[in-house]
Amino acid sequence: MSNSKDVVKPFDSEHDYEGGLAVIDKDAIKNPGMEPHRERMTDKSEKHEKAAARQVTALFVFSMIASAFSIYAYFAFPLSNITMGQVRLSTLLIGAGISFGMLAIGIGAVHWAKTLMVDNEVSEARHQTRGSEEVRARAVEIINLANQESGFSRRKLIRRTLYGAIALFPLPGIVLFADLGPLGSNVEEKLRHTAWAKGTRLAKDPYGTPIKASDVTIGSVFHVIPETLRERNDDGTLNSEYLNEKAKAAVLLVRVEPSVLNPSPGREKWAYDGIVAYSKICTHVGCPVALYEQHTHHLLCPCHQSTFDLANECAVIFGPASRPLPQLPIAVDSEGYLVAQSDFNEPVGPSFWER
Ligand code: FES
Repeated sequence: MSNSKDVVKPFDSEHDYEGGLAVIDKDAIKNPGMEPHRERMTDKSEKHEKAAARQVTALFVFSMIASAFSIYAYFAFPLSNITMGQVRLSTLLIGAGISFGMLAIGIGAVHWAKTLMVDNEVSEARHQTRGSEEVRARAVEIINLANQESGFSRRKLIRRTLYGAIALFPLPGIVLFADLGPLGSNVEEKLRHTAWAKGTRLAKDPYGTPIKASDVTIGSVFHVIPETLRERNDDGTLNSEYLNEKAKAAVLLVRVEPSVLNPSPGREKWAYDGIVAYSKICTHVGCPVALYEQHTHHLLCPCHQSTFDLANECAVIFGPASRPLPQLPIAVDSEGYLVAQSDFNEPVGPSFWER
């Protein structure tokens, strides 16, 4: 076989075959080479070049305005006394600001490259991952050339507006981090305590109907919130703390045969006639524990399969959770409704407290 030939699979009618492999002639494939360079309007006319530079600058300025607008939109709708319509409008405006900020940077960069940067095509043979000293020196040369040809150093206005657009663009995201946790003083207190208090009735989620002990049959499971937790204030506006408080206070209520339960000393009276209440917030990373297996008395978290043994104070028997689900001590009031004896005696949710 000559040097200019190679072998390929599989069989077809257009090749000769040697030893079952097809023979192709490399010389038959011509290198099409580079396409001829096409001059752009901005290469030929200074007027067009300046217009393109203004457009790129305007796009970067627009990006800055859009990013600043989304920050404004965040603060324009404080989360107190806010209606659901305002929540939607706020989300829409914040999202629009971030999207347009990002879009304008993208369009500006592409427009800059297509109209103002030198657009000579360059082809380069493959080389080792780490180049020789000459290659590295050549790379520096190329970077300098690219800098020169793109006008990055020379076009100060474009460069500075690009810096401004890129600097402002992440700010809306940073501002939104404020929503990840409570703000202001007493942050630890807010995280440590829930809406449960002595005498608060246990109510069905989401309707808020109080639950009588006689309604809870063996094997049944209720998703429970404090009866005092209301989605709306008395004047009809949304309770801005509703979702935060609900997220902390969510409880699973289950009834088993009283003989199944093995309370530790001091907890004998935390259940009522086999009815137990445990925090629904997984102690791994906070998913809602929502699956109950009646035969084994196991509660399962669907996120990473942490499994809690209801019969033994929700001890962890499988999975990544590192502590039991906190138990809500319960009793019944004079009308037979289930009530909390107190708040949880430990923080609910992920176990960063001990660290
Ligand atoms: S959040 Fe429940 S197991 Fe991970």
